[in-house]
Amino acid sequence: MSDTYHWWQTGIVYQIYPRSFQDTAGNGVGDLNGILERLDYVKSIGVETIWLSPIYPSPMADFGYDVADYCAINPLFGNMEDFDRLLEAAHAREMKLILDLVPNHTSDEHAWFTASRSSRDNPQRDWYIWADPAPDGGPPNNWVSFFGGPAWTLDELTGQYYLHQFVAKQPELNYRNPAVRQAMLDVMRFWLDKGVDGFRVDVIWLMMKDPALRDEPVNPDWDGRNTQEKLIHIYTNNLPEVHDVIRDMRAVLDEYGPGERVMVGEIYMPYDQLLNYYGADNDECHLPFNFWLILTAWDAQAVRAQVEEYEAALASDQWPNWVLGNHDQHRIATRVGPAQARVANMLLLTLRGTPTCYYGDEIAMQDVAIPPEFIQDPPALLQPEIADEIGRDPERTPMQWNAAPNAGFSPPGVQTWLPVAHDYAQNNVAEQEIQADSMLNFFKALSFLRADEPALHRGSYATVSSGADQVFAYRRDAAGHASFLIVLNFGDAAHTLDLSSAGHRGVIEVATGMQRSGELDLDKLDLVADEGLVIRLT
Ligand code: GLC
Repeated sequence: MSDTYHWWQTGIVYQIYPRSFQDTAGNGVGDLNGILERLDYVKSIGVETIWLSPIYPSPMADFGYDVADYCAINPLFGNMEDFDRLLEAAHAREMKLILDLVPNHTSDEHAWFTASRSSRDNPQRDWYIWADPAPDGGPPNNWVSFFGGPAWTLDELTGQYYLHQFVAKQPELNYRNPAVRQAMLDVMRFWLDKGVDGFRVDVIWLMMKDPALRDEPVNPDWDGRNTQEKLIHIYTNNLPEVHDVIRDMRAVLDEYGPGERVMVGEIYMPYDQLLNYYGADNDECHLPFNFWLILTAWDAQAVRAQVEEYEAALASDQWPNWVLGNHDQHRIATRVGPAQARVANMLLLTLRGTPTCYYGDEIAMQDVAIPPEFIQDPPALLQPEIADEIGRDPERTPMQWNAAPNAGFSPPGVQTWLPVAHDYAQNNVAEQEIQADSMLNFFKALSFLRADEPALHRGSYATVSSGADQVFAYRRDAAGHASFLIVLNFGDAAHTLDLSSAGHRGVIEVATGMQRSGELDLDKLDLVADEGLVIRLT
């Protein structure tokens, strides 16, 4: 790795789910002007890059991941002038803005699909994946949707089925057709010409499918619950040809200056496959999302093993990244419990690589229980028996800004699109800003230390043996700069540790409780339950 680092290597990425950040129109749904209003807040927590979940026109069958027009703004969120203002305001604050690009599928209301479905000989017919019914009239093969049920829907007009790995209103584009590839590259140029700093690319590892549409093998370990897990997805996920598509996308970004604009790819794959998405010549994703902190059990040794495996597998020109939460996963504070939420964030912000933080995690927002009549998320509606497990509404609720009705997200009296957490009057940004030892102030202490210290935003990583199963410790070093020792107690027992292999003395820079400071001897370090420390080695 060279000595110069790009913004997407050193800064923190913050994901905003626009529907839930700030409602200025008073209709219960967040909007672009709301994000603009809260930009100084985002800057104040030490974040550099904002990723916006989709803001395009959409019938909202999958809350914007069903795009009806890639080059416009959904009126629900504002208009193109609002967007331009937001982009300019972000840049004026030396922040970056990246958009969600959803190339795998469109909405069935996109003009491309309207044309494609109109007749078998429409010139855009093969922009999507159409197939004849099986001899019994059923779907062409056994493929299933991630959200439940078959991945095929029969279109009566032309008597063929079309493919959708999500809801039926999300038909999949055919990336074996060069015209589709060109069209999507032009979409990218449209936004890059406006000055957008890059894209988070939705389900990038699903963009190619087996052209022979072969049946997928049945998973012998399927427990009979989530239909998506019924098959082993060898013909719909991670096909080798997908890398050609991604290389073309990356080449478009590089037209705007190598390393200037970023491509982050959504890929749920083990490391041996995930790392292929950097590209053989580092010519694909800058950051293939690493979701293993989400997918791994919350256990010090399991997490340590993940970190070590990733660190060992990465080549020197492959930049690491870590994610703790997103709009598809239960909130971190709920997954690990409130006592561990600070440890989790300390881990995220001190590992080597770009951290991605989900809005609200900086105040330890929790999943919100959604009464059945308010459930909106398609997988929860399609598979109600496992809604608690797979439903994503609980982690998408309105940002908790203050103790006013509707948590300051929507004006009082407005019905918000998802319910606001009941504890918002105690747990909100305004309250946490004034409490010195709040989660928010803890997050800021970490993010600012990280920004100031080269060891933390670009230094090397090395595991330190802690001698305790529940404690994960590591060092971060950058030549010519201060070194740091991070000690994380994943358990609820206290420990006295000998960490002298990392050094003899240190000074506490950030402690999870925000109370502890001062110098300590590393050969006899007392760590209380659920405690994490960032220690400057002296
Ligand atoms: C991605 C998105 C998810 C969406 C799906 C289909 O996984 O993160 O929210 O439902 O793609 O677009």
